[in-house]
Amino acid sequence: MAVAQGPVLAAVLLLVCAGVHCSSLPPICPESCTCQRAPLLNCSSSGLSYVPQQIQDSVTELDLSHNLLNSVSLHRPHRNLRNVWLGNNTITHLSLCIERSLGSQSVSGRHLHRLRPSSRRRCVSWAPTLQLLSVERNQLVQLPEGLEGSASLWVLQLSFNRISTLQPGDLSHLRQLKELHLQHNLITSLHPQVFQDLAQLKVLDLSFNILTSLHPLMYLSLRNFEADVRLGGNRWQCDCSMRSLRRRMAYDSSRGLQTWSMVCAVPSSLSGKDLLQLEEDDLNCFGTENRPELHQDVTVYSGSEILLTCSTKGNTKV
Ligand SMILES: *[C@@H]1O[C@H](CO)[C@@H](O)[C@H](O)[C@H]1NC(C)=O
Ligand SMILES: *[C@@H]1O[C@H](CO)[C@@H](O)[C@H](O)[C@H]1NC(C)=O
Repeated sequence: MAVAQGPVLAAVLLLVCAGVHCSSLPPICPESCTCQRAPLLNCSSSGLSYVPQQIQDSVTELDLSHNLLNSVSLHRPHRNLRNVWLGNNTITHLSLCIERSLGSQSVSGRHLHRLRPSSRRRCVSWAPTLQLLSVERNQLVQLPEGLEGSASLWVLQLSFNRISTLQPGDLSHLRQLKELHLQHNLITSLHPQVFQDLAQLKVLDLSFNILTSLHPLMYLSLRNFEADVRLGGNRWQCDCSMRSLRRRMAYDSSRGLQTWSMVCAVPSSLSGKDLLQLEEDDLNCFGTENRPELHQDVTVYSGSEILLTCSTKGNTKV
């Protein structure tokens, strides 16, 4: 009997809502959550293993942190939802798309990825006006799906997960994004253009990943946004592939501009040294580094002298 009561009650309430003004009813507060501060629905530390679906339209803040959630899905758009906290759960895959009946869960990760362009078109977001999404301390292996449906996102907090790659285009719709927290993940490399559309970005935290090198183009775009970029605790490989980046940072530094701190991990002779403190000659090619850049673009400032390194080693073309 107790099992049947929930759905019956919900059905009755829905009927009432269809006929009468819902706002005249007392707000429903899901069991084990608190609704004291009205637009905030706080279900933090409630032992939840599923997301309560009876979320009122008036809710603007939803706290589901510190629960037992493996996945999060809502069945309809919540057009007032601004802030969502999902930290400290065990979420492995997060989608902001309203759940489709297609059994995508049975599809392997690789296939899912290939299906992405078409599934993107079909994505209807359950949080179209989201401004803050916090999913820190979970088990995400990739960025949340359907982020493009939340174009007003300001803060995306994804630290302490297991994200290893970001695809170019994953973030390109987030033109309002000001803070992106990706510290303590497993990111090994970054596409040079992955952040290029985030013109509002002020904080980018990539510390404590397993990055070994960065493309100079990424430096140029983020420097133009004047973003505070945190890169500590990675495995920077200070070899000849870093020369171009070091040169650009040294130039900016000489003009008194803020640059990035990148502490070398490899080779051992440079371990602990800041890239910017090194000379061009310190950055050697070892034959084991990533292939030197085939294509080098050089920004020329008017009136400046340019020194181009012309290596005959490897695949360098000049
Ligand atoms: C929800 O409640 C917990 C304590 O029960 C509190 O720590 C947390 O800050 C609250 N969430 C918000 C968004 O205020
Ligand atoms: C996450 O929650 C667990 C259990 O509730 C707790 O032991 C742990 O300290 C929490 N971690 C953080 C970072 O709050």
